[in-house]
Amino acid sequence: MSDNKSKTGFIKDALDKRKEEHRFRALKSLEPVFGTSRVLSDGKELINFCSNDYLGLSSHSEVIQRSNDFLQKYGAGSGASRLVSGTLDIHRQLEEKFARVLGLESVLIFNSGFQANTSVLSSLADRNSLILADKKCHNSLIQGAILSRAEFKRFNHNDLGHLGELLQEGAKKEYNRIWVVSETVFSMDGDQCDIEGLIQLSEKYDALFYSDDAHALGVLGEKGLGLNFGKKGIDISLGTFGKAFGSFGAFVGCSSEMKDYLINFCSGFIYTTALPPSVIGALDASLDLIPEMETERNKLLGHISYLKSRLKELGFSTGDSTSQIIPIIIGDEKNTLQLSEYLEENGILASAIRPPTVEQGASRIRVTVTLNHTEEDIHHLINTLEAWKER
Ligand SMILES: Cc1ncc(COP(=O)(O)O)c(C=O)c1O
Repeated sequence: MSDNKSKTGFIKDALDKRKEEHRFRALKSLEPVFGTSRVLSDGKELINFCSNDYLGLSSHSEVIQRSNDFLQKYGAGSGASRLVSGTLDIHRQLEEKFARVLGLESVLIFNSGFQANTSVLSSLADRNSLILADKKCHNSLIQGAILSRAEFKRFNHNDLGHLGELLQEGAKKEYNRIWVVSETVFSMDGDQCDIEGLIQLSEKYDALFYSDDAHALGVLGEKGLGLNFGKKGIDISLGTFGKAFGSFGAFVGCSSEMKDYLINFCSGFIYTTALPPSVIGALDASLDLIPEMETERNKLLGHISYLKSRLKELGFSTGDSTSQIIPIIIGDEKNTLQLSEYLEENGILASAIRPPTVEQGASRIRVTVTLNHTEEDIHHLINTLEAWKER
């Protein structure tokens, strides 16, 4: 430690650097206007274009009702971790229902997607394994890979050729197992992986395949059941409940044997209190609703494709997005922040995503479209972006 620095000086230095680079992040406290796309920020009403509550289920009457029913019947907490006395009948029933609806052999519920990705991957690989993950994988998957102590390599985004080369190299070495890891819909770009291609390559090299379906679940795939739905050859299928399910938590779909393994070896499952009954009730209702929301999903998809085509006409780059996540790629941090501020001045909440979340030079406004948005909301966004361009 240098003489003139306090032992916590590194904190100020790091924060100052973040500010200089226009990468400093701060929390914003919002009050949602229940059941709408609006939020109040310091009393000002904004249209929220950065929520992952894609189907608006967090405020759906049946979701709230069942959450409340379970709360009244079982109390506010589950009281213990799953292996102690926290597995209530409702946890078991919900896992069985998920397995039935999604056509999976077994399902295990986790407390969050982050917790599942960091702990599942790290319990399924060790220092003799190889993990190959897409370069744009979510931070939770990267943390899981690092924690596992396996050799960890990233393949170029959606580049099956590069993955094939890495698999070929890996097959020549003495790894005890190889994992291929991808997201189905990438969280910051809204584009999709070639899931069939990933399954085929994994099978060709006898690798295990981990597929994170967080952003497709509820929105894409048959009956909105995600892009992993109905696919053979996925060893770990991950879904999260904080997005289209409108609540909180995550699940892993896998074989019964894998489920037993996770119950015995996955620390992020073992050493934490089970999800509370109110959350289980909300999830139970969302799972009933999602497959039935075909009309609503078509409306959402219509809004998404309209917004995307108008943005293209205005000359904005939305990358390869094929989903409700639409990046408006600006490039540098400062301009991206300025656009985010301009949108806010004009009644729109849309967050600026900057490095390290995305790579250098790829800062963007990440827009998400949800069922709560009206046509007027979408037109207002388009008009505001057009005005920003013409300033
Ligand atoms: C692809 C992906 N996986 C996992 C997670 C983490 O899920 P959760 O919010 O439930 O922790 C996210 C959330 O941002 C995500 O985008």
